[in-house]
Amino acid sequence: MNAVTILTQEHQKLRPFLRRMAQTCDEENPDALNTVLEMAKTALNADLDQHIDLEDNRVFPHFAQYIGSDRVKMFIDDHRQIQSVRDKLYSAETPLRRSLALALDEMLQEHLDREENMLFPAAENEMPSEALELEPD
Ligand SMILES: [Fe+2]
Ligand SMILES: [Fe+2]
Repeated sequence: MNAVTILTQEHQKLRPFLRRMAQTCDEENPDALNTVLEMAKTALNADLDQHIDLEDNRVFPHFAQYIGSDRVKMFIDDHRQIQSVRDKLYSAETPLRRSLALALDEMLQEHLDREENMLFPAAENEMPSEALELEPD
């Protein structure tokens, strides 16, 4: 299957959780935020880590061979920051969670947008379509 299609579908699964988390931050109801974080736990932890692992270890190194490692490096660097804020958020006490949730939402939304608007189109334009096919594990 096409790597860009797979990664974009994974983004689409993640976005509603981010939206819900940001909306709940607007309500300033710490209990509601805790509930959303519990509901989003798998999406923002195991699923996100799996997505990042696929990008860091399989797809982006492959993209780099065609579009250059400089153009994938910033996305890989973002991943470390995103995971660090996410880990802080999940281990934080309730009063600190709101600002960390807003920071994660902003950072991650922007990252997904940049992948979809810059990186993926660059790969699609500059790579032969068969090179975008992801071999099964
Ligand atoms: Fe990413
Ligand atoms: Fe991604």
